[in-house]
Amino acid sequence: MSTEEYNLRDIKGIGPVMAERLREAGLTTVEAVAVMPAKQLAELIGVSEDKAMQIAQAARELLGLSFMTAEEYYQKRQKIGFISTGCSALDNLLGGGIETQAITEFVGEYGSGKTQLCHQLSIMVQLPRDEGGLEGKALYIDTEGTFRPERIVQIAQYRGLDPTTVLRNVIYARAYNSDHQMLLAEEATKLVEKENVRLIIVDSLVSHFRSEYPGREQLAVRQQRINRHIHQLLRLADIYNIAVVVTNQVMSQPDIFFGNPMKPAGGNVVAHGSTYRVWLRKSKNNKRIARIFDSPKHPESEAVFAITEEGIVDVEEGKSSRSRSRIVRVRTEG
Ligand code: GTP
Ligand code: MG
Repeated sequence: MSTEEYNLRDIKGIGPVMAERLREAGLTTVEAVAVMPAKQLAELIGVSEDKAMQIAQAARELLGLSFMTAEEYYQKRQKIGFISTGCSALDNLLGGGIETQAITEFVGEYGSGKTQLCHQLSIMVQLPRDEGGLEGKALYIDTEGTFRPERIVQIAQYRGLDPTTVLRNVIYARAYNSDHQMLLAEEATKLVEKENVRLIIVDSLVSHFRSEYPGREQLAVRQQRINRHIHQLLRLADIYNIAVVVTNQVMSQPDIFFGNPMKPAGGNVVAHGSTYRVWLRKSKNNKRIARIFDSPKHPESEAVFAITEEGIVDVEEGKSSRSRSRIVRVRTEG
């Protein structure tokens, strides 16, 4: 059943006022309401938890979503694809690479390699499946102005790829503010199928929201808007079976005296929204350490990689898992 057929007003008990409140909270679709935990829904739209539970249940009934057989769910999950990072240590850490139908978040301080990884992934997704790609294009939403096509050319050349073809397969947009960023995510819906996009990158996820809504008074609005944005991305990942990769900054918690004083920006909304969270930190020279945390399926473990001229590579060999000399053809047309 297509969820596009319904709008919020079709949910039993939802009038125009409540529909508007849901929209303002970022819940623009019946599906988004159906999958929101009652406690969170209650906070977002300012109703009791009982009322929120009723609303979510009504949305689920409308979609016939209450149950699917395990077989149906299994079949959906069988379609999950993986994008290699180009570094076997990182791929192993992630259980095979970056997954579709999920949001993978890379968190870390400045210079930890988040943007470099985004560049590399926008190339890797284009590779044939037996080379670790998904034979698709990347859509790159750059909120900080740090995307460098020259770097794409450099990494592509190292991998024996034709730089011009690789550049054409990265669809780029600079997001100038949070409204623009959300608009771009909306526009992405139109591009995904037409252009065979298999990876959407948002570098970085919350920086615009943080600078536009500073201070405690604006926290609730900011979190609602971030929540809305993450749900846009989750929907894209889920409906089109594509991978979504976002980066996130760390912020210091001045009140923490023991343990890690840094935490990811974006609070619970980002923590709940991301399927997989990977923390990147600097090590000696060009080495970086990745640690997976908050994951439903991975044990907490670490991997080491390096940032070199060639991109993100394994440390042991000092080069990537792919041979330098091999010529790999890139074709991303569906
Ligand atoms: P912020 O966006 O500032 O939070 O940082 P980030 O995590 O996005 O860091 P980024 O991915 O930009 O990593 C920067 C690191 O990559 C620096 O240590 C650079 O030295 C390294 N780097 C970037 N480009 C190149 C390159 O062309 N060659 C080499 N060898 N290293 C590079
Ligand atoms: Mg960056």
